[in-house]
Formats: sequence, C-alpha cells, structure tokens
Amino acid sequence: MSETMLLSPMTIRGVTLRNRVVISPMCQYSATDGMAEDFHLVHLGQFALGGAGMIFSEAIAVHPNGRITHGDIGLWEDRQVAPLRRIADFLRRHGAVPAIQISHAGRKASMQRPWYGNGPLTADDLARGDHPWPVVAPSPLPMDAGWLMPTALSVDEIGDIRECFRRAALRALEAGFEVAEVHGAHGYLLHQFLSPLSNRRNDGYGGDLAGRMRFPLEVAETVRAAWPDDKPVFFRVSAVDGVEGGWTLEESVTLARELRARGIDVMDCSSGGLTGPATAARLPRGPGFQVPFAARIRQDAGIATMAVGLITEAEQAEEILQSGAADLIAIGREALFDPHWPLHAERTLGHGGNFASWPEQYGWWLDRRARTMPGKTPAR
Ligand SMILES: Cc1cc2nc3c(=O)[nH]c(=O)nc-3n(C[C@H](O)[C@H](O)[C@H](O)COP(=O)(O)O)c2cc1C
Repeated sequence: MSETMLLSPMTIRGVTLRNRVVISPMCQYSATDGMAEDFHLVHLGQFALGGAGMIFSEAIAVHPNGRITHGDIGLWEDRQVAPLRRIADFLRRHGAVPAIQISHAGRKASMQRPWYGNGPLTADDLARGDHPWPVVAPSPLPMDAGWLMPTALSVDEIGDIRECFRRAALRALEAGFEVAEVHGAHGYLLHQFLSPLSNRRNDGYGGDLAGRMRFPLEVAETVRAAWPDDKPVFFRVSAVDGVEGGWTLEESVTLARELRARGIDVMDCSSGGLTGPATAARLPRGPGFQVPFAARIRQDAGIATMAVGLITEAEQAEEILQSGAADLIAIGREALFDPHWPLHAERTLGHGGNFASWPEQYGWWLDRRARTMPGKTPAR
C-alpha cells in the first residue's frame, strides 16, 4: 500500500477514485457534427491505461451554438449519447472514473480551431466549411476587437440554456459518466455572467455580485438536481480574470461558498480566458502558478478543490496535496506528453516496483524485462 497522498484512493459521495490524479478537460476539436469518434475513445482511453484516477471529457456543448468550434462534441441530442457511452464504459473497465464537463461557450463560440489560428473565423475557415453561427452573451459586448458581436440573452433564453444544461446532464448520466463538471471558467458563457467586464445587465442577472452569480448558481443547482445524490458535481471557475476591474479571488471564494451550499462537491480552480483564446490568466506563469487559488478557496470556502496548471512532476503534485492546498491534481498538457504519467509518478514516488498496477497486458512484460536487465527500470 502506498503512503503517498497522490496515490491513495479518494471517495467523494459514492464514487471512489483509485488515486488523486485527474486528467483535465481538454478539447480536441476533432468531432464532426457534435459526435464523439474513435479518436476520442483512443485519446481518453490511453489515460485510463496510464493509471489516472479520473478522466474528464473535453468541454461538451449543451447546445450547438454553445460549441467553441465546429470540432466540439455535444450532448444536445440523444444520438450523441452512444459514442460517449462507449468511452465511459472503456474508462470504467480500465479502472478510471469517467467524468464529463458540460459547457456553453456564449460569445466565445464559433471560433477557429487552435491550429488554424485560435481567433475569429476567417475566409480560409469558411472555405474549409466552418461557417459562423450567431453567438449570445449576457451583454452585447464582443470578446475582443474583431470577434463576433453577441446578442444579449433575454430572461426566457437564459431559462432555455439552463434547460439545455439539465438535458445534457441527463444524457451524460445515461452515457455512464459518474462525475459532472459545470464549466464556469475560461471566458465561456457562465464566466461571462460572473465577470463585471462582460456582464453589464441591469436586470436580476447582472449588476452586483449576487446578480452576476445568479445564472451560474442556477445552472449548478439544475445540474445538481439532475445528477444522482451518490455522484459528485464539480464546478470549474476562473478564480481571477487577472485584468483590471475583472472577477476577483474574493468573489471566487463567495461563489464557492454558495456552490457548496447547493451541494457542489469540488471547485476546479483555473483562471483567466475572458478576453482571448487562452485558458489561464495573463499572470506570470511558472510551476503550479494557479495552486494558490485552489488553496485560498479550499481554506476560506471550506470546499474540496482541484489544482491545475503547470503541474508536471510527481513530487510537486504530492507536495501540493500534502500542503493542504488541494484535494485533487489535474494534469493537462503533461498527460499529452506522457499518457502514462500516473503510472510513472508511482515509480518516481518509490512505488510500483513490479509493475503490478500497470495494465496486465504491459506489466507482465515490463516486470520480466526489469528482472532480465536490472537497472532498466527508469522512473520515466
Ligand atoms: C488542448 C487543450 C484543450 C483544453 N480544453 C479545455 C476544456 O475543454 N475545458 C477546460 O475547462 N479547460 C480546457 N483546457 C485547459 C486545461 O484543462 C488546463 O486547465 C490547462 O491546460 C492548464 O493545465 P496544464 O498546464 O496541466 O496543461 C484545455 C487545454 C488544452 C491544452
């Protein structure tokens, strides 16, 4: 048995993770017509073979107009359930908890896939068949100069999107996911409601902090009510905008308290993204630069947190957990570099010498090779 926190199991409500390593949600922009494909099965499946405790899907759109790009997966129709169920089943069969992030991109929808420029759609994208669609937001403010002008949502339309979140959550459940995360970060619709820079409404969905939090809290409540009591719901927040006059860490603490009171189990603590394609605030970036946000929210709101952002080393991850800054560690790009990161982390932390926790299809061979070639058991 391991004595590290990173490698020890964790139970949230009725769901047990085999360790505290979570694969962070990462859009692959590779779906057609909102459908998950074989690519997504292999992409997410590799992380289950790699030993992660829980694996998040990419941001799954609750409405076609809520996709970031034409390549996003959706759950706005029943036909989208089956390919996602295949993925959730595979992850579970290989020991990982299948988790899903549901999202609406608001004014940050209908943009280029990253490798075509990561900006507003251009004539080249249109020629490829990626045509723009109308985008919506709390207020008629584009994300930045040159981006699509959104239409301000009416109160009825806000209710319609809330209902889209509910239906998407029910479909996610039908697909076999065990954890649902509401995407409230990175400048997408719910974050647009939270930040005073993007929400200039003067009705009950804007103005003071209570007004700006209202829609995100309604969505969280709706998803919580649709999701079974024995299964966790996470909320991803951009803990700070990192821009003058923007959303602050103090407001994130207040939001986290409100979410906790509504039965949200974990705050997934990212940052930034309100006014550009990035998924982190324009802060000095270094190892674990967003960990202090998770620490502060955990401490002051009394809710479990997940830390994310430039966490790349096993010892670093263990230290974050040991210090009490977070309960879970999300790994993003480092998992793209090394899909077996959790199994390698185990070795780095001095466990798993005989490859017993590797998939047996691999471990049996690697153990024999290690005995044949002592010393050929590198950590990574
Ligand atoms: C290819 C890619 C796609 C991403 N897509 C999402 C997403 O769908 N939802 C989300 O909340 N964050 C998304 N992110 C942000 C990551 O989840 C993570 O917060 C960020 O990459 C920082 O962690 P890292 O330094 O470990 O990569 C994405 C990041 C990358 C690199």
